[in-house]
Amino acid sequence: MNTAVRYYSRSGHTKAVADAIAAAAGVAAVSVDSADAAITEPVDVLFIGGALYAYGLDSHLKGYLASLKKENVRKAVVFSTSMISKHSVDLIKKGLKAQGIPAEDEFFYARSAPGKEQLEQAKAFAERFL
Ligand SMILES: Cc1cc2nc3c(=O)[nH]c(=O)nc-3n(C[C@H](O)[C@H](O)[C@H](O)COP(=O)(O)O)c2cc1C
Repeated sequence: MNTAVRYYSRSGHTKAVADAIAAAAGVAAVSVDSADAAITEPVDVLFIGGALYAYGLDSHLKGYLASLKKENVRKAVVFSTSMISKHSVDLIKKGLKAQGIPAEDEFFYARSAPGKEQLEQAKAFAERFL
C-alpha cells in the first residue's frame, strides 16, 4: 500500500491531525507548500486535509488540489479542522472531483485544536483505509 499525507495548516490544528494520520500510515505528513509536496508516483491512498478560512480554503490548498493528477491518486481521504463549519470538507472534495479523483464519503473532522483523544481517533480513522 502506497500512502501519502498532504495538508495545509496556518496555525497547526490541521497539521496535528495530519501528523497523527501520517504516524498511523508510517509516512511523513507534508505541507502542500513544501518543495516535496508533489505526488509524482502513483499512490493508493492520499490523505488530504485543510481548514476553513472565511468560508473558503487557503489558496495554497486550492492550487495544490488543482495540480493533482488522477493517474497518480487512486483514492483520496479528506480530513479537516475548523471552528464551526464542515464546509471545508465539501470544498476539498469538490477540488478532488474537479481533478477526477474519487474521495471516500467518510472524512475526519476536528473542531479547532484537536486534543489527545481526537488525535487517537484520527489515527484509528486512518487505519481503516490502510
Ligand atoms: C482568518 C480565519 C478565518 C476563519 N474562518 C472560519 C470560518 O469561516 N468557519 C469556521 O468554522 N472556522 C473558521 N476559522 C477557524 C479555523 O478554521 C480553525 O481554527 C482551524 O482549526 C484552523 O486550522 P489550522 O490551524 O490548520 O490553520 C477561521 C480561522 C481564521 C484564522
